[in-house]
This record gives sequence, structure tokens and C-alpha cells, in this order.
Amino acid sequence: MNTLVIGSQWGDEGKGKVIDFLTEDADIVVRSQGGSNAGHTVIAHGKKYVLHLVPSGILWPGKLNVIGNGVVINPTSLVEEMTYLRGLGVEISPQNLLLSDRAHVVLPIHKEIDAAQEEALGDHKIGTTKQGIGPTYADKVRRIGIRMADLMDPVHLEAVLKARIMTANEELVRLGHPAANPQETLSAVMAAADELRSHITDTIPVLNHAVKAGKNILFEGAQGAMLDIDFGTYPYVTSSNTSAGGCCTGSGVPPTGIDKIIGVCKAYTTRVGAGPFVTEDAALADYLHGLGREFGATTGRPRRCGWADGVVLRFSAMFNGFDEMAMTNLDGLDACEEIKICTGYKLDGRTLEFPPALISAWERCTPIYETLPGWMSDITKCTSWEQLPPNCKAYLKRFGEIIGCPVGSVGVGPDRSQTLTVPH
Ligand code: GDP
Ligand code: IMO
Ligand code: MG
Repeated sequence: MNTLVIGSQWGDEGKGKVIDFLTEDADIVVRSQGGSNAGHTVIAHGKKYVLHLVPSGILWPGKLNVIGNGVVINPTSLVEEMTYLRGLGVEISPQNLLLSDRAHVVLPIHKEIDAAQEEALGDHKIGTTKQGIGPTYADKVRRIGIRMADLMDPVHLEAVLKARIMTANEELVRLGHPAANPQETLSAVMAAADELRSHITDTIPVLNHAVKAGKNILFEGAQGAMLDIDFGTYPYVTSSNTSAGGCCTGSGVPPTGIDKIIGVCKAYTTRVGAGPFVTEDAALADYLHGLGREFGATTGRPRRCGWADGVVLRFSAMFNGFDEMAMTNLDGLDACEEIKICTGYKLDGRTLEFPPALISAWERCTPIYETLPGWMSDITKCTSWEQLPPNCKAYLKRFGEIIGCPVGSVGVGPDRSQTLTVPH
């Protein structure tokens, strides 16, 4: 059984926690897009882990973890993350972590270009994580990228790095920034390459043999559907296909190898970075931030918050083909007297069922809300669906009807143990 786990909103839906919950029954966990812009939190046995590049399956002994060809890997960030995880007692070796030889490499210089481009955009900046993600995917599409396969031979690597640093420096200077120190960049990447070499391989046959052998593969989506380069709030998006299709192109497992697609959503909505957010609500943001919730796992930025957006989720469920939703953070609404769900957008007197393409139109949309009564009680101690208050169950049922996809599980707290399965 091969399952995709995809963020259905603007990222940070709680994918890390859902993946961790499902890993017990999996053999392999695969990342297939994005890079260290991701920050996936897992809390298990009272310990907190934040993963950026390494698949969350690494926290379970005996599971194989694969970083697929569609991911962009910053070698120095990956080595730092491996050191951080080892410091928390996690074992990592080429037996449980493989890196695709076709994945593209994020260089320190890409991070500098990312920051310089953001600065040049001024008030129109995207609000990127400044991890060099956009510039690296741009290199891939321009056919000038460096790939993990280039890390295998140090002599070859030094030559390609020198050439790329030179042209990237010209780009930085054009953006009005000082050129990077070529020797520093070179040494950092060469040192990280030495650490990673034994993990690099052709992961495509590894995954396809596993599919044929009937192993269970979990695909760990990063970011969220509304940050997808094709379907999201363009240009306020990331630079990869964060949706279901990206799992196939980013791993080499064909669509025929996928059995189930789960969309992860929060009981409300959050977003970091700029861009339209029709259901954004300042009072809800104050309330959630006051509880110490909704600060970014990668950048620490306070997340923008709003009510559940049925238009976004309906669209997302459609183009991802979700079989069910894994809803997290339901406990975040415990103290709300009333809970709103957006059922449609109003735009120039028309009612929209799906979001518009033009960003200027997105920004003019206003939400049409349905209001449901809250449950006004602590659900964090509930250990089964039956124990949830009736208003809570009614919210989940109506949520599923509005978006056209049923809720299959709910999170009532951040810990590994706080996930309840919804009976069919
Ligand atoms: P990801 O990027 O999708 O993996 O999500 P993040 O880890 O960036 O953000 C999700 C946040 O919600 C993290 O702080 C999680 O610990 C937390 N979280 C996930 N599920 C639940 C839940 O059901 N209840 C609560 N209270 N927190 C949750
Ligand atoms: P996870 O996997 C939330 C957002 C950034 C910015 C836009 C582009 O933890 O859900 P980028 O650095 O990718 O070029 O930034 O995308 N963004 C995320 N927001 N969660 C993430 O990852 C994100 N990764 C990127 O804030 O708006
Ligand atoms: Mg996150």
C-alpha cells in the first residue's frame, strides 16, 4: 500500500505528525519535492524533533528513508540536520537514508541570490524562507544545475562548482550585492560532499523494486497545495509541485504505483509569507498566538491565521484526488464559542466555488461563511472518536460535506499519541 500525504493548504498543516503516525505500518518514507524550506515537527515520547530535509520516518528504527530526485538538497544544511538528529539519539547511516543522485544541489550562493531577489522586490516580496529554493529550481529548469551525482567525484565537483560560483557571482553583482567568497563556498560544499557520498545512489530502481515487492511506501509531502507552482496563489508560491503529481515526478514511482492520497489540513488555516488569504482573521490570530501556537518551525515567524477555507480545500481535494483528510489541531478551536467555515467566495457580485487564477482577483474575494456552534471543552485528553463532544463531530461532518472529502483522522494535540481515527 503506497500512500501520499500532501499538505492541502499553505503548508504547516501538521504533515510531520501525520507521517510519523503512519510510519509504524510503512517500510519506506520518501520526500519528493521542496528542500530545507520545509519544517516538519514531530513530538514523540516527550521529545521534539524538527525535520527539514530528512524524511520523518528516520525517527522510527528499521525504516528506509529516501530523498528523491525532485528535492533540492543543500549539502551543508543536510549534514547539519544529520548532526542535530544524531545528537537527539537518532541513528543515521546509508542503511536508512538514501539520497537520489538526480536531486539538485542548493549552494550557499543560491541562498544569497534568494535574499537579494527578495530585497529587490521590496513591498512585493514573496516572503520566502531564504533557503535558496527558488534559485535552485530555476537553475534546474535553465539546465545549468548541479546534481548530487556531481558530488561523487571530488575533482569533477571542484571544476563544476568553480564554474557555477563564477556565474552566480555575476548574478549577485547585477542584483547590487557583493560577490560571495568562492573559496568559502567551495570548501563548505566539498566538505559536506565527503559526508554525504556514501548515501548517494540511484533511488529510482530502489523504490520501484520496493513497489513490486509489495512494500508499504509513504510519501511525505512538503509545503502545501496552495504553494504549488501550478495550482497555488502564483506568484506567492514555492518553486515546486507540492501537489500529488509532484510525488511521482519527484521520486520516479509512476502514478500506477500510488494507492491512497491523504490531504492534511488544520481545523483552521495558517499561512507564512505574503499572498492572498481570504479567510484571514486578526482576532483568531491573536487568540492562537496568545496560546503560544502558530510560530514557524523553520523561520520562527508568527503565522497568519484564519478560518477554514472550503474554497481552497475543495479545490485542493479536487486536483490532488484526496481519498480522505487528516485534520490536525482540532484542539486549537476548543475555546471558540462559534466556528466559521468559508463555503464560497464573493467576487464582483458572483459566488465562486473555486479560487480564481489572477492574484488581483484573489485579493478582491470576500468569504461567505457558515457558522457552527463550538464545543467549548478540552478535547486533548480524548483517546477515541466516541469521546469527542457532539458539536465537534458535527463540525467534522459539515467540514467534509463542504469540501467534498471526508475527514479520516483528527489530531487533538501535538504528541504522536494524540491522533484519533474517524470511523467510516
Ligand atoms: P508541517 O510542516 O506540516 O509538518 O507542520 P509544522 O510542524 O510546521 O506545524 C504544525 C504544528 O502543529 C507543529 O507545531 C505541530 O507540533 C503542531 N501539531 C500538529 N498536529 C497537532 C494537533 O493535532 N494539535 C496540536 N495542538 N498541535 C499539533
Ligand atoms: P512545510 O513543509 C509553510 C512558503 C514561504 C513563502 C513561499 C516561498 O513546513 O509545510 P520558498 O522559501 O519556498 O521559496 O518560499 O512558500 N513556504 C512555506 N510555508 N510551510 C512550508 O513548508 C513552507 N515552505 C515554503 O513562507 O511564502
Ligand atoms: Mg512546517
